[in-house]
Order: sequence, then C-alpha cells, then structure tokens
Amino acid sequence: MIQDSFKGKTVVITAGPTYEPIDPVRFIGNHSTGKMGYALAACFAAHGAKVQLISGPVSIKANDQSINVTSVTTADEMYAAVKQLAPTADIMVFAAAVADYKPKVFADKKIKKSGDELTIELVKNVDIAAALGKEKKAGQFSVGFALETHNESANAREKLQKKNLDMIVLNSLNDPGAGFKHDTNKITIIEKDATTAFDLKQKTEVAQDIVNLIHKRING
Ligand code: CTP
Repeated sequence: MIQDSFKGKTVVITAGPTYEPIDPVRFIGNHSTGKMGYALAACFAAHGAKVQLISGPVSIKANDQSINVTSVTTADEMYAAVKQLAPTADIMVFAAAVADYKPKVFADKKIKKSGDELTIELVKNVDIAAALGKEKKAGQFSVGFALETHNESANAREKLQKKNLDMIVLNSLNDPGAGFKHDTNKITIIEKDATTAFDLKQKTEVAQDIVNLIHKRING
C-alpha cells in the first residue's frame, strides 16, 4: 500500500476501556490497554489519514501529529465525543472496550462499608457502535470488534448486522496470545460476503492487516 493511500480521509477511532463511576473513589472498568486502537490510529496516520482518536483512560500515548486525541472517561462521554465527530468521518473504527453497564446512581460521597453484602444496581450503557450505525451515511465505512468465547463466527455475524458495520474484527479468546493484556493478536475479519483469517502477530502488524483490507474495500 502506498504511503499516502488515506490522504484526504478522516478516520474516527474509539479505543481503550471506559470507567463507570460508583462513587468519588471507585469505578467499574475493564483490562483494555487501548493498544489495538492506538496501533490502528498510528497506521492510518502513517498512510496519510487525519485521525480522531477518542480514548478511554489508558497509559499509552499517540505520537503522530495527525492524530487528534479526545480523552474521555465514561461511555456517555465517549458517545458524545464520537457523535460530534461522526459527520466528519469517512471511516469509523470502534475498537474501545465500552463497559456494557454503569451504576444506576452515582454516590456523591464515598460509600462506607456496612453489612456483609453490597448490591450495586447497574443499567445498560449506550451501544456506541449500534447508535452510530443507525446514523451511518452513504459512503461511510465502519468497523467493529468482537471478543467471543463460543459460536464465534455466528455471534460476530450477528453483531455485524445489528450494528450496521461493514466489517467486524473477531478476536477469539480460545487463541493463546490473543486479546487483552497481550502485545499479539490473532484475528479473523468477517464481512457480509467474506471471511479472512490471519496468523498470530504483533498488534502493530495486525493493525496493518486491518488497514490494508479497509483500503482494498474502499477502493474496490
Ligand atoms: N461497542 C460499543 N458500545 C458499547 C458496546 C460495544 O461501541 N456499549 C462496540 C465495541 O467497540 C465493539 C463492538 O461494539 O466494536 C462489539 O462489542 P461487544 O462488547 O463484543 O458486543 P456486545 O454487543 O456488547 O455483545 P456481548 O458483550 O453480549 O458479546
């Protein structure tokens, strides 16, 4: 792929986890490091794209000048940022591990311990990919991720359709070295009429594979 193959294109990427506050000192989160989303951002930028990276709390940084980072904490904040940037996007990549649920109420004072059990009521968060899928314009290309443990292909296909995605990157938890907490990943890319399996690779190389296929699809 030539260096400037994404010149003139704007790519909106979500990355990292979201933190859903319980009280001023506690939250519900997950182990996402943001590495996959940041690797994709770097790869698109290296090929000439303007990148809008909407990132949950992570310890890594984006180094390219053409990556504009919007830092968010909660799923609601991530959604607000993505929604605002979506109309500018040629490509949208939903790589964030958004918390599916958030505490129903935020306790404005630290919850003190009392009793042997504590129940925190959770309510569903907005599904950012699905919400944006409903507003997708003609010509916009969108990519989601799925992490599955069983019925992988069928579940991923269902998400492709439900979230109105063009492509879904499937990580299987059954593959050693893939997914959370690893620098490597083993993916299968699922599209309406195609399935492409890749070997276990460094996340930077995985990002290149994903970007290559997006380029191929966009340019016919
Ligand atoms: N996603 C999102 N907003 C959410 C949940 C998920 O944008 N609230 C996006 C993720 O970034 C990913 C895709 O949707 O691209 C799939 O996420 P996943 O959590 O695997 O799917 P769910 O629909 O939440 O299904 P389940 O957890 O039941 O497998």
